[in-house]
Amino acid sequence: MTNVILTGFMGTGKSSVGRRLASELGLKFLDIDWVIEKEEGLAIAEIFDKYGEHHFRKLESDVIRRLASGGFGTGYVVSTGGGAVVNDANRKALKGWGVLICLKASADEILKRVGKKNDRPLLASGDRREAVERLMKERVAAYGDCDLTVVTDFKDVPEVVGIIKTFLKDKNIKK
Ligand code: S3P
Repeated sequence: MTNVILTGFMGTGKSSVGRRLASELGLKFLDIDWVIEKEEGLAIAEIFDKYGEHHFRKLESDVIRRLASGGFGTGYVVSTGGGAVVNDANRKALKGWGVLICLKASADEILKRVGKKNDRPLLASGDRREAVERLMKERVAAYGDCDLTVVTDFKDVPEVVGIIKTFLKDKNIKK
């Protein structure tokens, strides 16, 4: 059974695209950050606050390891947090489990989409544009190591879903 994983920077539309893609393909939808929040009983921002990023990354890798070893079953569209695939082992595990698709957007578009909300700890303090540009630069190689990249600037959710579905069909992964 096919699994599709959506990754990419914060604000690129992973959750909204993922939810719609899952429903159109008849697959289940799972967001790795939700699993972490549910299991820990804390919001992502609270985990960062209380225990730091390093601890969050351990929880994230643990969920990915369980997912990729079949612990959640199969037949999913999964969306990851934006930093999950930076870790080589996470990325390798996800690529072995399904088709890894990266959603991409310009820094301007990301800044627009994340708005003034303060629920993303890596963008919560300091100069937000500087943080977005720095993290994007650091993550170029990891995001580049995916099966498909879809630029989402100037595209709505159905358009992005359509591009992914065409790719999956062309690759004979999903009808
Ligand atoms: C992160 C992205 C967040 C969340 C955490 C760290 C990142 O998820 O996992 O705040 O490192 O880019 P979204 O990409 O869904 O915002």
